[in-house]
Amino acid sequence: MGFILGIESSCDETGIALMDKKGNLLCNLISSQVELHRPFHGVVPELAARAHLQNLPLLFEKARSIYPQALQDLDAIAVTRGPGLIPALLVGVHFARAYAWAKRLPLIGINHLEAHLFSPFIGKKVPASFLGLVVSGSHASCYEVTPQGIFRLNRTRDDAPGEVFDKVAKMFKLPYPGGPVIDKLAQQGNPSRYTFKRPKMRDGSWDFSFSGLKSAVYRQVEGDTSWWHQDGSLTQKALDLLASFQEAVVVQLMHRLKTFYASHPQRVLSVSGGVAANTALQKAIHQWAEQTKVEVFFPPKDLITDNAGMVAFRGWMLYQEGYQDDPLTLDGDPQLGQL
Ligand code: KG4
Ligand code: ZN
Repeated sequence: MGFILGIESSCDETGIALMDKKGNLLCNLISSQVELHRPFHGVVPELAARAHLQNLPLLFEKARSIYPQALQDLDAIAVTRGPGLIPALLVGVHFARAYAWAKRLPLIGINHLEAHLFSPFIGKKVPASFLGLVVSGSHASCYEVTPQGIFRLNRTRDDAPGEVFDKVAKMFKLPYPGGPVIDKLAQQGNPSRYTFKRPKMRDGSWDFSFSGLKSAVYRQVEGDTSWWHQDGSLTQKALDLLASFQEAVVVQLMHRLKTFYASHPQRVLSVSGGVAANTALQKAIHQWAEQTKVEVFFPPKDLITDNAGMVAFRGWMLYQEGYQDDPLTLDGDPQLGQL
């Protein structure tokens, strides 16, 4: 029985995973750098790369100590090659290249966004056709997947939704990452108290855009101390603004999703990436999916934010298709699939 080794180092999570021949995860080890980047309210690429250099061999040794047999019996190595932060990507790519070369194993470079896109189907049958929404700290796109290929339907023109959650959290002096914190606080707020305009592209495209929303929140918050009580906790109007901001993100995501569903009416929808963990977004998508009779799949909780399990899974799919890269030349590509 052969195994696939998955390696992830594109942003601020170091990951090592092992997947068996049937597409089931044996282990999915993650070392998070959230504490390291918290003082900066975002990921510092150089710090991320140094932490990957330190943590990747440790996670690998841990996997080897738990599953020595699986490491002896690898079919292939799958590693994220992009998109992402180049100093961070290079750590995983070069680790994988060296190991693949030394052990004479096939190496498969993985597109991180494709890994997210297929992550809701880990351990399940991957549908032949589906619509996908990938929303994370650095990307936002809708996709159509068919037997002919993976087609990106739109992208974000500026900020990614997770990035905007993180920046709005910073405006309110809330800790990084902002998404989970705002998600929780917004549950105590009134999402209809503040209204934000939905962005419209001059060229008529259905790309996403979140920077206008970010600036609108900034203009409200700037120079006003009435968002905080004396003890630093948030006032009701701050909770209302956070809920209204989150609502505006959800409304835009749902609008684009419905638009693409009208022109590409697939029966299955995959929703993935860190922002897929958002409670309000999940609720809106489930409601819509029920009305339209679309079957919706989210990844399990531990596979939503960055992890190597989804990389191993995409590698497992590509290995079955006979896909292989050259361990001597595979390179990290920070813009992979983006241009
Ligand atoms: O997919 P991911 O782990 O990394 C990238 O590939 O970017 O996504 C991380 C992003 C962060 O910006 C974080 O704030 C956001 O996902 N996030 C959330 C939630 N949980 C994580 N955003 C909104 N609501 C959440 N519950
Ligand atoms: Zn990601």
